[in-house]
Amino acid sequence: MKELNIHINVRVYTYDELNASDRELIDAAREATYSSYSPYSHFSVGAAARLANDTVVCGSNQENAASPSGLCAERTTLFYANSRYPDQAIKTLAIAARNEQGKFLEDPITPCGACRQVMLEMETRYRQPMRILLYGEKEIYEMQKVGDLLPFSFDASAMQ
Ligand code: THU
Repeated sequence: MKELNIHINVRVYTYDELNASDRELIDAAREATYSSYSPYSHFSVGAAARLANDTVVCGSNQENAASPSGLCAERTTLFYANSRYPDQAIKTLAIAARNEQGKFLEDPITPCGACRQVMLEMETRYRQPMRILLYGEKEIYEMQKVGDLLPFSFDASAMQ
């Protein structure tokens, strides 16, 4: 028997420690939570993507009475970015969320598995790492690439 130890890198910042560009993206993700349609979970998630050409695209979670028909904020944002700007890689994705009381989460929001899988495909598609900023009121996590969120990932290369 042997044991594998997987190493991931996470940088932890306070809001004030971020540079102006990342603060702007976090602000946009926070703002996007206010466009969430979440009458079922009352959990409002916002995401903001900075593209290679520096355009910022935002989105929020959109729910449905038939729950699988809804979509998370991350995929709403990423799919819109790819639809509107198919030739632009996504440099950085920021995510923020507010709870049922309308308060931003104290600890960083962490995306669901399906969204991580979609992020991975975008990194592969554009052949550039996508940085991820996970917002919490106390601190912000920064991952330099999707692999740090999704170790042992499955992508198209596994099928060759
Ligand atoms: N949700 C997101 O939009 N992003 C996440 O990272 C976690 C969960 C949404 C899906 C659903 O509308 C609500 O939050 C509760 O799961």
